[in-house]
Order: sequence, then structure tokens, then C-alpha cells
Amino acid sequence: MTGYAVQLDAGAPDFLQDPYPVLASLRATGPVLWHEPMGVWLATTHDAVSQVMRNRAFGRIWTDWEPKSQMEPFNALHRNQMMENEPPTHTRLRRLVAAAFGRGHVERMRPRIEQLAASMVDDLGEQFDILGRYAEPMPVYVIADLLGVPREDHEKLRAWSQAIVHMYEPNVGALVKADAIAASTAFSDYVRAVVEERRSAPGDDLITDLIQARDEGTKLSDDELVASVVLLLNAGHEASVNVFGNGFHALLQHPDQMARITSGEVSVETALEELIRFDAPLQLFERTATADVEVCGQLVRTGQRIACLMGSANRDAAVFADADTFDVGRDPNPHVGFGMGVHFCLGAPLARLELQISIGTLLDRYPRLQLVGEAPRRPTWVLRGFERIDVKVEP
Ligand code: HEM
Repeated sequence: MTGYAVQLDAGAPDFLQDPYPVLASLRATGPVLWHEPMGVWLATTHDAVSQVMRNRAFGRIWTDWEPKSQMEPFNALHRNQMMENEPPTHTRLRRLVAAAFGRGHVERMRPRIEQLAASMVDDLGEQFDILGRYAEPMPVYVIADLLGVPREDHEKLRAWSQAIVHMYEPNVGALVKADAIAASTAFSDYVRAVVEERRSAPGDDLITDLIQARDEGTKLSDDELVASVVLLLNAGHEASVNVFGNGFHALLQHPDQMARITSGEVSVETALEELIRFDAPLQLFERTATADVEVCGQLVRTGQRIACLMGSANRDAAVFADADTFDVGRDPNPHVGFGMGVHFCLGAPLARLELQISIGTLLDRYPRLQLVGEAPRRPTWVLRGFERIDVKVEP
């Protein structure tokens, strides 16, 4: 194999706690590096990641997990949704739901999200886990409302989603696979039941719209309908929870930066972009080369995989001045948090709106929050976040 071979132990406790020194050394080694244990190229710089995401010769090419007979519930949810497909299937599936996530449509949800945030903040008390009590349920409620799924089921949805996304980490074991199969089966059955309900009692929601698309022609199959709903429910909250958690944790550790927001010097809108950049909730996305392509001088051959290291791109000093400094006033802030190219995050306007509201509402109400103890990190890399973040209201 040509190119530099590198060591990266994605399971090492030090790396999971703080991957940024290792990612910095990878960038210093080169923009595109070969990682033998995972059998993938690593795109380490902002330039390399941008090139890969924008180049149509790199696709998200889904490969079913083996053994197929056991993994089918998990495979079916992935094989049949937009994120794991390329055009024209991707275009068809994305177009069916794109309007619901457009800026104008999302902006109309503002009053309801503001009301939700205000009522949730009222219930928090003096000391609480800001993730479990606020940041986790909030985006699940919002996406559940949009799709027409009962809010009361948020804990089930969250648990299924977590079991599924654990599969995106490197080196998953038998237990993780078994959990993901069980969650995929239960989640699909649940969505099929909601679809049947909406079919007999249509509502003003996205599932009802998708059923119409399904029933009116050849735009959507049954499996695609279920997989699309599951994708939207999962993608619609997983990253938002961890942007809030990672970003708010950084704010709690940098009271001077928190004060720049609460004093009005920096807007929540500007600060949010830095919360997304500084400690990326989604650290890695993979592509497969469908032709021989050169990236930053390195040839990637047809069929080879390349992992875009998003957290590394977001700390690239070639693009961000003082890249390791948490600066809520950073503007412009061309982070890669929402991706690029055809798979650019469909939910970016919604994610921005709900995070601006949830952070703004919380800080208006509690301008002086303090961390209690050390917040435990989740032992995962690809989806980076905290288990819980306990805070107390400073007198
Ligand atoms: C701050 C929170 C969020 C972040 C950081 C984020 C990030 C991303 C990224 C990086 C991708 C591209 C994946 C790739 O290129 O392989 C993506 C795709 C996607 N996101 Fe988000 N996302 C967030 C919130 C949301 C929300 C609220 C929704 C609501 C539905 C959503 C729905 C999607 C969907 C459907 C895709 C697939 C798009 C496609 O394949 O065309 N995301 N997201």
C-alpha cells in the first residue's frame, strides 16, 4: 500500500477522552493516510474531507452485514433509506421529505419549539442532568411531532436509536450486534403500526404525507417508508443531543465564553456554530471510491474506502485561526459539521433552530450554571458525546 501507514487506536481510553492530540498528529503526517487495521484511507484535513464529500466519484455504498439472515432487520433499515444510497435512489427518497425540512417550513415551527423549551426549562429545579432532563428529550419531541409519532414514546425511540448507532463504531462485538437486530425489529414493527394507524386516521404530519406518496404510485416502497421514518427519527435527534452536550460542556468549562453569550456580546446563532465545530458529535463518515480518484495527491483506487475525519477537519489550522481555541465569536466558521455534497444534512435548518432555541432559553433562565463533578463520556468515538452532564444553578 502506498501512502503513510498510521497507528490509530480508536478504542484507547485516552483517545476517547480527548482525540484531538492524536488527530493533530495525523494531520501533521499527511492529508490522506492509510490505516491498515481498519483497511481504510483516512482524510484528515479540511481540504481532504471537503474534496471527498464533494466528489461524486465517492459514494455512500451500503454493504449488508453478514450473516445476512440474522442481520436483515438492521440491513433493511439502512439499505432502504436516502443516507445509504446514491442518486438516483437517493434523489427520489430525499425529494419526498425535503420540503418538510426546508428553511421556510422549519421556521414555522419556531413558536411551538419556543413553547416546548420554555416549559421544559421551568421543570428543571436547582440541580439536574442537563442531558437527560433537557437536551435528550427535546429534539426527540420535535422530530416525533413533525412525523406524527406520540411524544410519550420518546424513551423507547431513544433506546432503539442508541442500539442502532452503536453499530457505527469500529470493532463491534456480538452483544452490540444482537442489540441492534432486536432494536431494528422492534423499531420497524412500531413504525409499521403507526403507519397503519395514520392510514386509517390521516393527520397533519410527515408520516401521513409519506403514506400518500406510497399509495399514489411508485415513488416509495413499504420498506422504504419504514426505513425513511426510522432514519428521520434517529438522525433527527442523535447529533443534536451531542452537539448540545459537547458544546454546553465546553461552555461550562469556559465561563468567559459563556459570559460573552449571556452579556449579549455574541449571539446564540454565532456561538452555536462554534459549539458544532469545537467538539464534533459525528467524528467519522465513510465513502467508497467508485473510480480511481486522487485526493490531495494520494491515489484512492476503485473500491477502496475512505473515512472523513470530521472532528479533525474542524480543528485544521489551515482553515481556523487558533483552531484548538474555543471562541464562541468565531465568524466566519466554515466547519464541516453538517457535511457537504449530496448528503449534506437534510435537517440542518431544524437542528440550528432547535439548538438556538434550547440553548438561548436555558441561558436566559439560568445565566450562571456550574458543572457538578466530572461529566462521564460515552465510550464511543464515531458518535462522540457524554453519558450525562450534572449542573447546578449558581446562587
Ligand atoms: C446538530 C445536529 C446535526 C448534525 C451535526 C448533523 C450532521 C449530519 C451530517 C454530517 C450528515 C451527512 C452525512 C454524510 O455525509 O455521510 C447528515 C445527514 C443527514 N441528516 Fe443530519 N445532523 C444534525 C441534525 C439533523 C436533524 C435534526 C435531522 C432531521 C431530520 C437530520 C437529518 C439528516 C438526514 C436525513 C441526513 C441524510 C441526508 C442525505 O443522505 O441526503 N440531521 N447530518
